Amino acid sequence: MNVAAFNSANLNSGQKVAVKYFAVAMILFLAQCLFGLLAGLQFIMPDFLYNILDFNVNRMVHINAMVVWMLYGFIGSVYWLVEEESGTELVGAKLANLNFWILTIAVAIVVVVYLFVQTGPGTKETLWLINEGREYIEAPRWADIGIVVCVLIFFYNVAATFMKGKWSGISGVLVLDLVALAGLYLAGMFYTTNISVDQYWWWWVIHLWVEATWEVLVGCIMAWGLMKTLGARRKIVTTWLYIEVALMFGSGILGLGHHYFWIGTPEYWLSIGGFFSALEPIPLVAMVVHAVYDSGRHNFRNSNHPALAWLIAHAFGNFFGAGVWGFMHTLPQINLYTHGTQWSASHGHLAFFGAYATIIIAMIYIAVQKWRGDVWMSADLPDNGWKWKWSLGLLNLGVVGMTVALLISGYEQSFVERALGGSTWAAYFSAQATPWFMQGMHWRMLFGVMTMIGVVLLLWDLVTIGKGETRPAIDPTIAAATA
Ligand code: HEM
Ligand code: HEM
Ligand SMILES: [Fe+2]
Repeated sequence: MNVAAFNSANLNSGQKVAVKYFAVAMILFLAQCLFGLLAGLQFIMPDFLYNILDFNVNRMVHINAMVVWMLYGFIGSVYWLVEEESGTELVGAKLANLNFWILTIAVAIVVVVYLFVQTGPGTKETLWLINEGREYIEAPRWADIGIVVCVLIFFYNVAATFMKGKWSGISGVLVLDLVALAGLYLAGMFYTTNISVDQYWWWWVIHLWVEATWEVLVGCIMAWGLMKTLGARRKIVTTWLYIEVALMFGSGILGLGHHYFWIGTPEYWLSIGGFFSALEPIPLVAMVVHAVYDSGRHNFRNSNHPALAWLIAHAFGNFFGAGVWGFMHTLPQINLYTHGTQWSASHGHLAFFGAYATIIIAMIYIAVQKWRGDVWMSADLPDNGWKWKWSLGLLNLGVVGMTVALLISGYEQSFVERALGGSTWAAYFSAQATPWFMQGMHWRMLFGVMTMIGVVLLLWDLVTIGKGETRPAIDPTIAAATA
């Protein structure tokens, strides 16, 4: 028998579907970074690929690939845990598999159209077939409808499995959250000619996803991940989860107002948005305390070192990227100057990476471990586990480096374009020609390349870690009992 090879016999039927979602997620992560590098290069060399792959196309593929790979990562994570958490078999394994292929083929067609057709005339056909024109969710209408159908099938599969098996605090929160997550997508699917109205609804998807439903989803995954890797007690992680969810919804729902400052919505949003979004970092502090306290409580003795390292990277990344970097520009008095500058891009990078890329990577390490037959993934890995450690280091340092570079560029823009230049069209351009702005763009490329090396190393590690390993994994619950 092949020792510690990837063997699907080690997986339950939900997990067999999950690893497919994880594989596509990682391929799209690589694609995301590739197109990010192309878009970043165009800030430095504006003629690069001009009229072949313009900046708007590269940027669109970059951020759409991100949203899609993260959704794949989340769907994969839920399929991963559904059978263990419900104590029964997935109700529709065949359906889940079919669903995966339909969704993946649809995603591939959308990407090919983005790359080779790119734009169309401003007609309804363009909206249906090429691009819907809403940042992050540009997918054409046919794909939108397809995505909704696929998500409904996924939802049915998960909810029906819990209904057949047993419910828990984690699965209850998870299923209710999936209803909200899927429902919000509908807010980004209809067409209005008024740009203020259009933006108003579009933010329901983007803000309420990333600052409410996705945050709750990662709260559930974190609770489950801590039980899995550390053997943390269910009662404790569930209590934390309830606290986090209450704080998250309490601040994040009306925090939506920080996107309604300058888009033609009524003025009361200035106070509502400023106040509630300023509270948003609080649940993120709770998440850090929870993860670090539980790890310390168990003396960091855990069954999967890379996964726990990435879970902790998530706790801090979420707090700094979303909480601190978000808070910096969330008061309207400050946002007046920073709105739509590289300041936003700085926050966007650290938040999406810190809050979501990290925890999905953690789940994939958990998956790889079991797929190899529940092998050892604690200390003393062959070659000192250099690949996972270096990819963790390069990815985090790369993204933090890009974040700081963008912040410097954004600071220069706020200062020159807004404060000095009074937000004129000419000031918009002169700010982007300043040496500090341009240096930030160069540093972003350097750290972008570092990020890319981190991704490649990560993928290499994911397909090799645990290969040929003969030691069984630590049982975290036994470790917990002695801690
Ligand atoms: C994981 C959670 C979060 C993610 C993934 C995230 C991501 C982003 C992204 C990508 C943008 C740019 C949107 C665009 O294209 O216009 C943005 C904007 C913004 N975010 Fe966040 N964010 C998160 C949490 C937060 C939090 C907790 C706060 C406040 C405390 C915050 C405050 C803001 C503000 C004020 C803007 C508007 C920037 C502007 O005016 O240009 N974000 N966020
Ligand atoms: C591999 C290196 C990367 C490079 C060179 C890069 C470059 C870029 C560029 C040039 C843009 C367009 C910014 C603009 O319109 O001014 C962008 C946007 C964005 N990127 Fe990246 N990126 C990289 C990796 C990542 C990663 C790892 C993430 C998150 C997981 C990410 C998330 C985003 C987001 C959310 C936006 C939209 C920001 C906004 O609307 O303000 N990028 N990136
Ligand atoms: Fe927001």
